Amino acid sequence: MNVEEYRGHIKEVLITQKEIAEKMAEVGRYIDEKYLGKPLLIAGILKGSFVFLADLAKTVTIPCEFGFMVAQSYYGGTETTGEVRITLDLQQDISRYHVIIAEDIIDTGNTLKAITDIIRARNPLSLEIIALLDKPERRTADIDADYAMFTIPDKFVVGYGLDYGEYYRNLPYIAEIKTE
Ligand code: IMP
Ligand code: MG
Repeated sequence: MNVEEYRGHIKEVLITQKEIAEKMAEVGRYIDEKYLGKPLLIAGILKGSFVFLADLAKTVTIPCEFGFMVAQSYYGGTETTGEVRITLDLQQDISRYHVIIAEDIIDTGNTLKAITDIIRARNPLSLEIIALLDKPERRTADIDADYAMFTIPDKFVVGYGLDYGEYYRNLPYIAEIKTE
């Protein structure tokens, strides 16, 4: 694919850089207020969370730690199955922290449900899910974000951490992509 094709596949910007920045500041204030005085671990699920978490991190002003997990989802056709394999795990003893899971998008919810079950089994002081994007129309698993920054329709989106075939994660905005 040449660069003109690469850029041409971006269909429409759904969420702008400015909208994202404003939302990050809002979530930062929410975290500051809710977790002040509590041992806090913000756990990013890679790779999708790396861009938004870097920005969100800079809006949080209370003491907190960061950790990362890589969870390989197994697919049945085009959808995830809810079976995951952790290929990179958190280093911290979860039972000593209030844990925020930071996930890029909740689609069917299968991936997040599996990750959440694994983390909850380690007895965190509390557990909450913050998702950049929520596609509620596609949900099949019994799970929801405690804080969904943006709710979007059933469209395939890229940018700000989200990929299509590993491309477009570094777009500074969120856009719909032509997937054909
Ligand atoms: P779920 O298990 O169906 O909730 O799938 C979640 C994972 O699918 C996310 O972490 C993403 O990696 C991927 N995903 C779902 N929808 C999109 C999308 O619109 N764009 C990019 N990746 C997506
Ligand atoms: Mg992905």
